[in-house]
Amino acid sequence: MSLSLLLLLLLVCSAQASHYYGSVMTYYPKTTNADGSMTVDLHYNLNIHCGSVFTVLTCSSNNCGTAVVHSVSKESDIFTWCQNEGLVTLQVPPNAPFQLLLSGGAWINFIRNSIGSVKAVTLVEPRNRSDTSQANRSPQTNILALVRVPSNCPRDFNLLTFDLDGDQVKCRYANSTLSECDQCTPPSVLNLSTQSCILSFSPTDSINEGPWAVQLVMEDFPTQNITLTRTDGVQTTITTNNAISQLPVQFVLRVDRAVPSCTEGLYLPKFLPPTPDNKAQLYAPVDETLEISINATANISMISDLLFSGPYNMNQTTLGAGQYILSWTPSENQTGESHPVCFVVQAVFNSVTYQSELRCVIVNVGYDPFPIPIFLGLRMKVSALFSLSEDYIIDNIVELIRAELLSQGLPSDLPLKLNFSTTAPSAVSP
Ligand SMILES: *[C@@H]1O[C@H](CO)[C@@H](O)[C@H](O)[C@H]1NC(C)=O
Ligand SMILES: *[C@@H]1O[C@H](CO)[C@@H](O)[C@H](O)[C@H]1NC(C)=O
Ligand SMILES: *[C@@H]1O[C@H](CO)[C@@H](O)[C@H](O)[C@H]1NC(C)=O
Ligand SMILES: *[C@@H]1O[C@H](CO)[C@@H](O)[C@H](O)[C@H]1NC(C)=O
Ligand SMILES: *[C@@H]1O[C@H](CO)[C@@H](O)[C@H](O)[C@H]1NC(C)=O
Ligand SMILES: *[C@@H]1O[C@H](CO)[C@@H](O)[C@H](O)[C@H]1NC(C)=O
Ligand SMILES: *[C@@H]1O[C@H](CO)[C@@H](O)[C@H](O)[C@H]1NC(C)=O
Ligand SMILES: *[C@@H]1O[C@H](CO)[C@@H](O)[C@H](O)[C@H]1NC(C)=O
Repeated sequence: MSLSLLLLLLLVCSAQASHYYGSVMTYYPKTTNADGSMTVDLHYNLNIHCGSVFTVLTCSSNNCGTAVVHSVSKESDIFTWCQNEGLVTLQVPPNAPFQLLLSGGAWINFIRNSIGSVKAVTLVEPRNRSDTSQANRSPQTNILALVRVPSNCPRDFNLLTFDLDGDQVKCRYANSTLSECDQCTPPSVLNLSTQSCILSFSPTDSINEGPWAVQLVMEDFPTQNITLTRTDGVQTTITTNNAISQLPVQFVLRVDRAVPSCTEGLYLPKFLPPTPDNKAQLYAPVDETLEISINATANISMISDLLFSGPYNMNQTTLGAGQYILSWTPSENQTGESHPVCFVVQAVFNSVTYQSELRCVIVNVGYDPFPIPIFLGLRMKVSALFSLSEDYIIDNIVELIRAELLSQGLPSDLPLKLNFSTTAPSAVSP
């Protein structure tokens, strides 16, 4: 299927014009192929009314190459939206940035800030970066379709802004002059910190209750001047003021009616250990199942469900009231990727739904990109008939330890340093 000519239909179904709850896209450059083309994985999270869609993904500039789509739709009767998580594998010539446009249909009804039809753009930069000697990796982020906050409670939405290239990640509202949205009025109930991607909600009047559309653009900026090189050697220099890639982060913020108390753990669910912290970094070896335990409580309301957004084949298990496990088994072809997972717990009291704070974590597959030193306390008993030199220990024993760690799945380029102390054996057994 050629993206440059065809509309890539993410879903085609019945006709309901006002269906859209937002979307997030991120991408990963994967392999460089024998013919010089590059494989780019585009991850999307598209949230819509169940069983309705007009939304399509098209190539809106330059050559987006050819595409294969893998997707799943999570349907639920309890909620008003369906979450479609998927992966578009593109094969592109790595010579020019290209733009993908998600469009068609309209946001849900009764949006408080004037918003037009659906529009979300993703800019992919496939050229070789001088600082990393590989193509740019986009920031990794995610969000849920519908986040809720009572009108009388302050809340910060501290978005995940993980970037494997170490770029500076910033957020801004989509700009209609730049064709990034169709009528884009930022929600007046939120303050955006562009440098940290924190959206702050302050208590507001009941007149502001209802759904607000949030249309953000997340961008990564190099921390020094870099050059981008095409396969034919043509170079372009960009500065710290130039965004390398651009991602859409769109969702609905629903301001609900005031709650009797904003204290977490009464009406609003409160996370308990072992729930990971917001922005926690988790590690998942390939082919092993990662389990993320989520625990939440509320004394007055009843915990009803967990909402999450993560890799398309992540599963949820309910253990009991407020206790959930998200499980995911990354495959070999996801090695080196970092997948964002966001979740909230919902509770109900007198037919009113309350959400916990939003938490997002990043799952690094196969290796830890920013290793922190691990100090292992190893005690070994080595018996020898002659005294061992330090060189002998390094050449033989350290290598034995390295081989053992490798067989346990650690990366082969793992720097291993041993600080050892020796104690004279009190007795030598034969
Ligand atoms: C990027 O450029 C570096 C340095 O010229 C080179 O070693 C590397 O193989 C290139 N990477 C790709 C993906 O072409
Ligand atoms: C939108 O982009 C245009 C062109 O870069 C710029 O002049 C304008 O200030 C931007 N508007 C906002 C609201 O950022
Ligand atoms: C945004 O920040 C300004 C200045 O701190 C404050 O006056 C205003 O109330 C805030 N607005 C919202 C919606 O939080
Ligand atoms: C980065 O590039 C800009 C524009 O080419 C130039 O003015 C600036 O001096 C460069 N900065 C550094 C640190 O090289
Ligand atoms: C909820 O109830 C438990 C047990 O009675 C109590 O320890 C906890 O402080 C209560 N939580 C809140 C937020 O009041
Ligand atoms: C969840 O929190 C409750 C209350 O503190 C505790 O009893 C329970 O053991 C926790 N669950 C897990 C899986 O840790
Ligand atoms: C997740 O669910 C799918 C479909 O129900 C199943 O095939 C897969 O094995 C499950 N994965 C895990 C890690 O439980
Ligand atoms: C990655 O590997 C898994 C399991 O081997 C396979 O099901 C999946 O289709 C592969 N994904 C891509 C994009 O090739």
